[in-house]
Amino acid sequence: MTAPDLGRGIVFLGGGNMGRALIAALLRAGANPSLIRAIESHPPTAQALVADYGIETATDTSVVGSRIDTLVLAVKPQDMARALQPLHALLQRERPLVISVAAGLSVQQLQHWCGTDVPVVRAMPNRPALEGVGATGLFAPAWVATTLRERAASILATAGIVVSVDDESLMDVVTAVSGSGPAYFFRFAEALAAAGIAAGLSPAAATELARATLHGAGRMAEPGADLAALRESVTSKGGTTAAALASFSDQDLERVVAAAVTAAVRRGRELSSQAAAGG
Ligand SMILES: NC(=O)c1ccc[n+]([C@@H]2O[C@H](COP(=O)([O-])OP(=O)(O)OC[C@H]3O[C@@H](n4cnc5c(N)ncnc54)[C@H](OP(=O)(O)O)[C@@H]3O)[C@@H](O)[C@H]2O)c1
Repeated sequence: MTAPDLGRGIVFLGGGNMGRALIAALLRAGANPSLIRAIESHPPTAQALVADYGIETATDTSVVGSRIDTLVLAVKPQDMARALQPLHALLQRERPLVISVAAGLSVQQLQHWCGTDVPVVRAMPNRPALEGVGATGLFAPAWVATTLRERAASILATAGIVVSVDDESLMDVVTAVSGSGPAYFFRFAEALAAAGIAAGLSPAAATELARATLHGAGRMAEPGADLAALRESVTSKGGTTAAALASFSDQDLERVVAAAVTAAVRRGRELSSQAAAGG
């Protein structure tokens, strides 16, 4: 991983879980800490960023100066309008690339708060980004310059893989697949442990076996791996795994998963329209 070009500097608005994860990922990739600053309103969180990463922070916008090429919006969606308000004049003057990781806030809404000619892109990282093994969906409006899209992708790629979508409505699908996805695998592992217990294992043994199996399978599914080939590599013809997979097919696993993703997409859209109504 090579460090992205941060130009005159990158500023994080919000240095909580996700802001902190992206700062850590940039530094792991070799970024210069003097080019990274954070506006973080919670003093202990701001102090921890200084202590852990040696970056400049402030509880107000004084830390931005005019050395800004990229602004990452990493406050909660409901805090966004208020957090952007003191930055409005600076954004109009500097027109940095703005990367929002906020769930459900549209480019149109963000531009309403940032200024209509400020280039805004949306990213949806997932929780494993905090471990540097995230999956991020990225949307940039067509008019955003290629160099800016590439900069956004290179910054987010320090925390895991990045997939671009060319239709903003697909960000809800990204959220339903990779944003919520880690919970699906945990839920599946819980069901696997419960089935092991029902078949006679102790709760401790079943839970440990299911957890370690999820972890091991996740390690095997490294970026670029062919999922069907992986499945075939652990399935002998006529064996125990094949019997279990046939049972999944009989119960129409695809239908169960598709219904779950559809429910998540629908809920994401409901939450986005509530956020839009609130903004
Ligand atoms: N965590 C995830 O797994 C995840 C995944 C995908 C996307 N996201 C998105 O990432 C964003 C941040 O989520 P998070 O989990 O990192 O939240 P978080 O841990 O609460 O971090 C947000 C931080 O921003 C601070 N803040 C609030 N208002 C501020 C302001 N006006 N100026 C500066 N700092 C301010 C908060 O301080 P206080 O605590 O004092 O309010 C908090 O420390 C959200 O929009 C979320 O949708 C998160």
